[in-house]
Amino acid sequence: MCGIVGYIGKRDTAPLLLEGLQRLEYRGYDSAGIAIHASGKTTPGLKTAKTKGRVRDLEDRLPKRFQGTAGIAHTRWATHGVPNDANAHPHLDAAEQVAVVHNGIIDNAAELRAKLEADGIALASDTDTEVLAHLIGRSDAETLEARVQEALRHIEGTYGIAVLHADFPDRIVVARNGSPVVLGIGEKEMFVASDVAALVSHTRQVVTLDDGEMATIKAGDYRTYTTEGSRTSSSPETVEYAAESYDLGGHDTYMHKEIAEQADAVDRVLAGRIDDRFATVHLGGLNLDAREARAVRRVKILGCGTSYHAGMIGAQMIEELARIPADAEPASEFRYRNPVVDPDTLYVAVSQSGETYDALAAVQELKRKGARVLGVINVVGSAIAREADGGVYVHAGPEVCVVSTKCFTNTVVAFGLLALHLGRIRDLSVKDGKRIIEGLRKLPGQIAEIMKLEPQIEKLAQEYAEARSMLFIGRVRGFPVALEASLKLKEVSYIHAEAYPASELKHGPLALIEPAMPTVAIVPDDDLLEKNRAALEEIKARSGRILAVAHQEQEKADRTIVVPKNEDELDPILMGIPLQLLAYHTALALGRDIDKPRNLAKSVTVE
Ligand code: F6R
Repeated sequence: MCGIVGYIGKRDTAPLLLEGLQRLEYRGYDSAGIAIHASGKTTPGLKTAKTKGRVRDLEDRLPKRFQGTAGIAHTRWATHGVPNDANAHPHLDAAEQVAVVHNGIIDNAAELRAKLEADGIALASDTDTEVLAHLIGRSDAETLEARVQEALRHIEGTYGIAVLHADFPDRIVVARNGSPVVLGIGEKEMFVASDVAALVSHTRQVVTLDDGEMATIKAGDYRTYTTEGSRTSSSPETVEYAAESYDLGGHDTYMHKEIAEQADAVDRVLAGRIDDRFATVHLGGLNLDAREARAVRRVKILGCGTSYHAGMIGAQMIEELARIPADAEPASEFRYRNPVVDPDTLYVAVSQSGETYDALAAVQELKRKGARVLGVINVVGSAIAREADGGVYVHAGPEVCVVSTKCFTNTVVAFGLLALHLGRIRDLSVKDGKRIIEGLRKLPGQIAEIMKLEPQIEKLAQEYAEARSMLFIGRVRGFPVALEASLKLKEVSYIHAEAYPASELKHGPLALIEPAMPTVAIVPDDDLLEKNRAALEEIKARSGRILAVAHQEQEKADRTIVVPKNEDELDPILMGIPLQLLAYHTALALGRDIDKPRNLAKSVTVE
């Protein structure tokens, strides 16, 4: 949510910053801006350009001769103040000597704004961030670092910031508290960004700041220290994925690319983890020995949106394979209801980005209360991954589309691994362990089979694009699949969709059934097949249109997408994939902005 990027070195900074912003646009796309230390043929000093709209709008509005070798930039998802030019970052102090870009929320901004106004400062925007620029500008400490530290002492809230000052053209000062900041180390040049995506085409050597940490970056070096000024040690790490992983790779959208990549992504989450000899899996980072695993009495899974849906499937897998009572809850709800934190419960936080504020806050609260928390996370080294006691990385690779697809699938597979691991430590038989392993191994090939259904699904999407509203139903294992499929459809196509357990139809939603309200039904060949068929009958009897996702043609459905059968426990992994394609092609037919749906942003780092 909001992306910051900065550069200092020998190259012309504006094109580099614009390229970085393009790569961060998934974090917010309602306004963009840039500030540089002008140099070369232009008058020295800070120069800024900002605008409501996308990065390409900023590019169009950039003045001629906007040159310099140090700068910061921002792409915004509005929290305080509507998207407009004035609220776009960077924000300046009254003397226009300080420029700040910020990701996060300053909780006491209203109070600080009132104090500044009482001192006669006219604020130029409605944002929380602007107060930081004024506070830094008013400090008379000797160094820029000390001025930023002094300003931050007044701030309550979360931030990832980058600061330029006209009097200190040789440096950019950055700080982190709750919003990610990564330094990129180049050859006599340094980068800073909210996410490695913005800098990986220039360097794969990075340093991730911790909360409470700051850094000064100069063309040739960097140093890190705390907001109190003590030096910190930070050894660079190499980014796992190469620059090409962040590109479209021949696809028109990231959503399509990411759906199409799923067979390879699932190969990655399985790689090196299966132990055929003992019919189990190795999860190196779990930090949970066999004795501790046997002592677990409950599993509570927490996540938001798609990650919550993946957690619902994970909870069912854990109950089925490990026979431990398990459930999933939206992390956002959990943290507000003063939950009972039980020492015998294993908590699992699920997050693609590892940054989602609600999930992070839930983890922090649980840890404060002494709970053991594992993470099922995609982004290595992210805030939740660092906060958790251990966990499983899902290795889906960079997910750029705002709407999550491959990460959902890999997360569910990771839960399959976790459930198998816990099951084999407890009472799952070798035979069942082998059965699940065989099923897991089949997944990539079966996903490739499902991708061959794309032309059929594309045609179906033309039919369904006319619907104003759609119902998604599933029973037990199929219900989270229905929930996720309905979320996918509404996010990218803006068609209203809601999901119900098929068993609940008679308790209300049947009233909605009419020809104009199509139903998508998840109908696996499992012990509930006949019950699901009965639900199709009920819908058909009321002239409803049905699209079934099933393991065999469904007589009562108008259309069936037939997917390959796996083990019952693993079927939900596959049954959602054709519906990702349905959401994609429906959105395409409606001309939607698929990778950047309106009002949304990836990595929701605010409440
Ligand atoms: C939906 C989607 C969101 C995220 C949610 C949590 O397609 O992407 O619902 O799943 O915002 O994000 P993470 O997984 O990064 O914690």
